[in-house]
Amino acid sequence: MVKVKVNNVEVEVPQEAYIIDAVEKAGFRVPLLCYLQGLFNEATCRVCVVKANGRVVPACRFPVQEGMNIVTSDDELEKMRKINFELLLATHNIHCWDCYRKSTCTLSTLSRELGVEGIPVCSECPLYGEECLVKQGIPCLGPLTVAGCDAECTRQSAPCIGCRGFTSSIDVWRNAIKYYRDNGISREHLESALSIFWVVIPVKLREIINEVYKQ
Ligand code: SF4
Ligand code: SF4
Ligand code: FES
Repeated sequence: MVKVKVNNVEVEVPQEAYIIDAVEKAGFRVPLLCYLQGLFNEATCRVCVVKANGRVVPACRFPVQEGMNIVTSDDELEKMRKINFELLLATHNIHCWDCYRKSTCTLSTLSRELGVEGIPVCSECPLYGEECLVKQGIPCLGPLTVAGCDAECTRQSAPCIGCRGFTSSIDVWRNAIKYYRDNGISREHLESALSIFWVVIPVKLREIINEVYKQ
């Protein structure tokens, strides 16, 4: 066994343990995404970073050492986690509304937790089992709106009107506009739904609407 400190709480863990084991034993938590205990610990996502003796390391992959001093949270770590998570989202094709894993989605949960704005309301809405309003011809703004409200409106069958503002991901915007088009929402209908924001609508979003509806 080895003794380590996690946020100044001393714990004893087996010599072959990883930092995440010590963190959990000490009663703390760090976000995990790619890690599956006993199955996968290749440390590919890096959202679990902690400081071990001042060095930034992935908690799920880094082994403990006698006397190690582990810090699970500070401003620098929170910023790194957010950046690492945003990099992952940048390449994630958001199709939350059709995703068969939506009821257990770690990505959308972490997105809310880390305050990352690339995931739309559609990541939360399907959790409540409502049929998608866009598929019923209603131009709900959920696909373009940043998640975090727990789908306040759509879980009561009312369309999202985008009160939380646009997501920050261009890829999400493109997917959203294609989703409207592919579900029969006309450009005019969409623009009318967006009209309350039309004066501040980002130029890039206007370009994407032009591009997608011309395809
Ligand atoms: S109802 Fe709106 S928020 Fe819900 S999945 Fe459909 S488009 Fe997204
Ligand atoms: S309008 Fe606001 S509260 Fe309602 S679903 Fe959209 S973002 Fe959430
Ligand atoms: S959970 Fe992905 S690197 Fe640790």
